[in-house]
Amino acid sequence: MPEAADEPLLRVEDLCVSFRSERGLLRAVDRLSFTVAPGEILAVVGESGSGKSLTSLAVMGLIDDPNAVLTGSIRYRGRELVGLPRRELRKVRGDEIAMIFQDPMSAMTPVYTIGWQIAEQVQAHSRLTRRQARARAVDLLGEMGMPNPAIQVDRYPHQLSGGMRQRAMIAMALSCNPSLLIADEPTTALDVTVQAQILRLVEQLRRDHGSSIVFITHDMGVVAEIADRVMVMYAGKVVERGPKPDLFATPGHPYTVGLLDSIPPMAGAKPRRLPAIPGAPPSPADRPDGCPFGPRCAHRHDSCRVDPPLYRRGRQDVSCTLVPEGADA
Ligand SMILES: Nc1ncnc2c1ncn2[C@@H]1O[C@H](COP(=O)(O)OP(=O)(O)OP(=O)(O)O)[C@@H](O)[C@H]1O
Ligand SMILES: [Mg+2]
Repeated sequence: MPEAADEPLLRVEDLCVSFRSERGLLRAVDRLSFTVAPGEILAVVGESGSGKSLTSLAVMGLIDDPNAVLTGSIRYRGRELVGLPRRELRKVRGDEIAMIFQDPMSAMTPVYTIGWQIAEQVQAHSRLTRRQARARAVDLLGEMGMPNPAIQVDRYPHQLSGGMRQRAMIAMALSCNPSLLIADEPTTALDVTVQAQILRLVEQLRRDHGSSIVFITHDMGVVAEIADRVMVMYAGKVVERGPKPDLFATPGHPYTVGLLDSIPPMAGAKPRRLPAIPGAPPSPADRPDGCPFGPRCAHRHDSCRVDPPLYRRGRQDVSCTLVPEGADA
């Protein structure tokens, strides 16, 4: 389908993911909307349980829990993916979208060597021969910082350590030069040098192939390094989003302020005096009425009893009543 000039690569609108339970329908992802432009790196941040993985699995069409209920719209190059038959979806996904999973084992087949699996991916997206695809697999594993890639390539996933499996999975996702890469905490299990290398490879994918990247991370330092735009999630919702420079310079939501506060100050930088955020986010089973961040918020006041909409503030959208008057809801 031809793309309109201003059509984002990915447009998610009012996405809800709920689970049937004894206590009724529990909403884990709550009316989430966002877009990803061609060639853009969107960082998604938020504490554990905020719905980051579920959102990516929804885009991939990989939520297979029979108790899950998904509503809303996910359009890729203008084409609706919600409700698409599995076979069609698999085709869009295989040709265009790749994901680095938080759990590497979920992306790998235990009965094939990692080299075989990477070569399969490479061959599905190129005209390389089996021998060339295997050589490419060895190169990719080397680029991921895997020692002795020519030997490791013949190992099975269970023969590798967690960090090595993570590298093999990233190699697999990058090998097909996807138009959209969803990377769910790809660097968490890796040491700092390898992390830096992975970030460079992701940037290279964007530079060489114009790919868009959704990069999920807990680490605001990584966000600072790699993102064009940032989406902050809390309790299944967007609480703030905007271009990285704006969001870092003038965070609008107290939660974003708290997250930014978790970055160790750089040498010479003025340390922020704001305290880290005490408490933990609510689970889908006990979300408070009103602003979901209210119970942890130092600025909480009466109007927080109503869940705030996203207010426009400059180039940012902020779901907080503290946004100065005059902002557009
Ligand atoms: N199959 C399921 N059934 C019921 N609840 C689920 C299911 N999968 C996820 N959830 C709940 O949905 C919420 C969001 O989960 P999700 O895995 O998306 O969080 P996350 O932001 O990726 O967290 P983390 O940073 O720990 O990876 C969590 O509260 C989780 O317990
Ligand atoms: Mg997750």
